[in-house]
Amino acid sequence: MSNFDAIVLGAGAAGLMAAATAGQRGARVLVVDHNDEPGRKILISGGGRCNFTNIGTVPERFVSANPHFAKSALGRYTPADFLALIEKHGIAWHEKTLGQLFCDGSAKQIVAMLMDECLAGHVSFAFGQAVRDVAHGDGRFRVTVGSIVHEAPALVVATGGPSIPKLGATGFAYDLARRFGMKVVEPRPALVPLTLGQGEALFRELSGVSTEVVARAGPAAFREAALFTHRGLSGPAILQASSYWRHGEAVGIDFAPDAPAGWLRAAKRAQPRTTLKRLLPVPERLAVALVEQLGVAGDLGNVPDKALEAAEVRLGDWRFTPNGTEGYAKAEVTVGGISTAELSSRTMEAKKLPGLYAIGEAVDVTGWLGGYNFQWAWASGWAAAQAI
Ligand code: FDA
Repeated sequence: MSNFDAIVLGAGAAGLMAAATAGQRGARVLVVDHNDEPGRKILISGGGRCNFTNIGTVPERFVSANPHFAKSALGRYTPADFLALIEKHGIAWHEKTLGQLFCDGSAKQIVAMLMDECLAGHVSFAFGQAVRDVAHGDGRFRVTVGSIVHEAPALVVATGGPSIPKLGATGFAYDLARRFGMKVVEPRPALVPLTLGQGEALFRELSGVSTEVVARAGPAAFREAALFTHRGLSGPAILQASSYWRHGEAVGIDFAPDAPAGWLRAAKRAQPRTTLKRLLPVPERLAVALVEQLGVAGDLGNVPDKALEAAEVRLGDWRFTPNGTEGYAKAEVTVGGISTAELSSRTMEAKKLPGLYAIGEAVDVTGWLGGYNFQWAWASGWAAAQAI
């Protein structure tokens, strides 16, 4: 038997932040992970350069059954706080686009930084070992790892979501939460490519074509690149929309996001001898496919206004009905998770079971693409550590 003040399950972004912060506040902390090394998702993130935060972080850029839940933690540990840590460790960084901050060098620097911070907090680690059992009684949690039982009054669930199982991702957090009587908002793959069925095979033939669009799903709209793949649709605009997409629903794509209302009729008056294919602000292969589907071939001067109006409407909101996603194997994150209704938004502690905390992606808070998910991991980990 070994005793700690807190046991953190999961040595990912949230778990390492919570452990380092609690350790530096004087708590004796153990981190347990079944992987042999910490932070495997951090290491491959951002194409190996880790998009570690986004300076445009606002609660509206997170998906959750309770859109207010993330406000407290995000407001108390901000991108500027994480940036201060990065600079303290002398890690060079740059802003790429849309407020996304990346390491100049490598994501390895982020893991090394977090491990250094853990060292400064005298954090203990148990890597490469599965959690065999978690029990609770007399206000203490008992975690069996291998043949050793570790005990602490605080247990922090930081095992993330099931996206990318080959990196060691599991739904362990959900099973544990359910065992302790907590609700779990139905998890589903997010920031994930969408697949198209036979009916939309024409578009799958455009594999490799990319164009700037506005992609809409549910209440959300994203203006970024969309990419046609041999299985369906991908690219940042689609990945973003996928977090809001539900089975059976359509995704709307605006292929001419800068075109003003009435642009096709205006073009007909100004250039009656031009064609729709030439006017479309998309790569030629895609323009050919769209024109074929619209049935608006030939000079615009010969196309009735009504047909141009109908084409304009369709081009501004082209409906695709995906038959699914590429699943957890390709999803960058998981939407859903441990219900925020079960947790204090200030401390991440379970309302019904004092001493139990849930942080990071395990919780029903999912950020947009672009550094938001790490910012949530840092902020929720930090918030829990203040209470341990
Ligand atoms: P995380 O998944 O990081 O950590 C969970 C840990 O728990 C893992 O170490 C795992 O091994 C361990 N674990 C799981 N089950 C266990 C069990 N049963 N027993 C013991 N240990 C267990 N986000 C972002 O903001 N910027 C970016 O650039 C990227 N890029 C990116 C690329 C790719 C390819 C992916 C898959 C994801 C991203 N993300 C991202 C998302 C980001 O990686 C993710 O949201 C955070 O890592 C979540 O942090 P957590 O600590 O919650 O979980």
